[in-house]
Amino acid sequence: MTINTKVEEAGFTPASRISTIGVSQILKIGARAQAMKRNGKPVIILGAGEPDFDTPDHVKQAAWDAIQNGQTKYTALDGTPELKKAIQGKFARENDVSYELDEITVATGAKQILFNAMMATLNPGDEVIIPTPYWTSYSDIVEIAEGKPVLIACDAAAGFRLKAEQLETAITPKTRWVMLNSPSNPSGAAYSAEDYRPLLDVLLKHPHVWLLVDDMYEHIVYDGFKFVTPAALEPALKNRTLTVNGVSKAYAMTGWRIGYAGGPRDLIKAMAVVQSQATSCPSSVSQAASVAALNGPQDFLTERTASFQRRRDLVVTALNAIDGLDCRTPEGAFYTFSGCAGILGKTTPAGKRIETDADFCAYLLDDVHVAVVPGSAFGLSPFFRISYATSEAELREALERIAKACAALR
Ligand SMILES: Cc1ncc(COP(=O)(O)O)c(C=O)c1O
Repeated sequence: MTINTKVEEAGFTPASRISTIGVSQILKIGARAQAMKRNGKPVIILGAGEPDFDTPDHVKQAAWDAIQNGQTKYTALDGTPELKKAIQGKFARENDVSYELDEITVATGAKQILFNAMMATLNPGDEVIIPTPYWTSYSDIVEIAEGKPVLIACDAAAGFRLKAEQLETAITPKTRWVMLNSPSNPSGAAYSAEDYRPLLDVLLKHPHVWLLVDDMYEHIVYDGFKFVTPAALEPALKNRTLTVNGVSKAYAMTGWRIGYAGGPRDLIKAMAVVQSQATSCPSSVSQAASVAALNGPQDFLTERTASFQRRRDLVVTALNAIDGLDCRTPEGAFYTFSGCAGILGKTTPAGKRIETDADFCAYLLDDVHVAVVPGSAFGLSPFFRISYATSEAELREALERIAKACAALR
């Protein structure tokens, strides 16, 4: 560590708490792909973590009405009573979990919910169990909060799901949280009630371990998959479970920045302390819009999910037809996480040997102008993630290019 002397004053030394956190690979690849596009290259970007649909009109109207009605001031610290009531109704109606209003918190995106939770609970060195592949923000947020991410590999053969034995082995006296995400970004894998049961049984034996579940993609599930959340499945764990959700993915509202959670009152209060000195409250207009999203018509969700399912099927079928790739059919979200072990060791037409999934993704971007994200960005290799939240025409073109690129390897 460098000591800040007068000589160094003109320079910049970041805090040690962010020293291990680099700019995400996803952002780096995205920036490179955008730069290539600006230079006239026909790049197809399959990296977006957001639906390609628009925010529904009735939600936009509610925001406009809120502006006209003067709902343009600071709101209650962790959510307006109207939005908390809408969230309470949503949890009861869709998840069969009941939360009092003071057991609910609203933040600037689910990302801030996670941030508030970790900042409010972790002491230096506290451990957080995170199954891989994971959404990259999990481990980075834990590290910013000076906790220690404990990463556990969950491979394709296990459906990218954590097994009870793995959880049992990973728990130590320093374990504070386990983070589960169903359906998952990046794998699309989801936990059914049967998948959750053995994990919840392990947690029942370890009362010092809390459970954070990220249900962000709950509405995007396929083939009749029945979404469930642990606080409903195991009421005995509800007093140490934080159920995280948001409007970003279901309602195509990523830019509105509203996430929420239900959990034990004392935790919710501690999270509000963090938020009070970070943002004061979430945006008043976005909160009004989110009330309309949660209380309004839900029928368009089925239609949008059907459209995602068609695209999932198209992508999985095309990937599995390519020699060297192996793609598990995901239960939800809008990502495929395909194995590329069969590609490693091959040589590109330019004579470069592909050693890793990152090499493979770089080859796809450079040679056929398709931007996808390597598994290494999500803590599990050799895989790559495709986001299929883009048009079927663009997906078909991208998959043809990937097939061509793979066929050209020797
Ligand atoms: C698994 C998961 N959780 C949470 C989020 C954060 O959502 P937001 O901050 O937009 O509410 C994302 C966004 O990509 C995600 O993929």
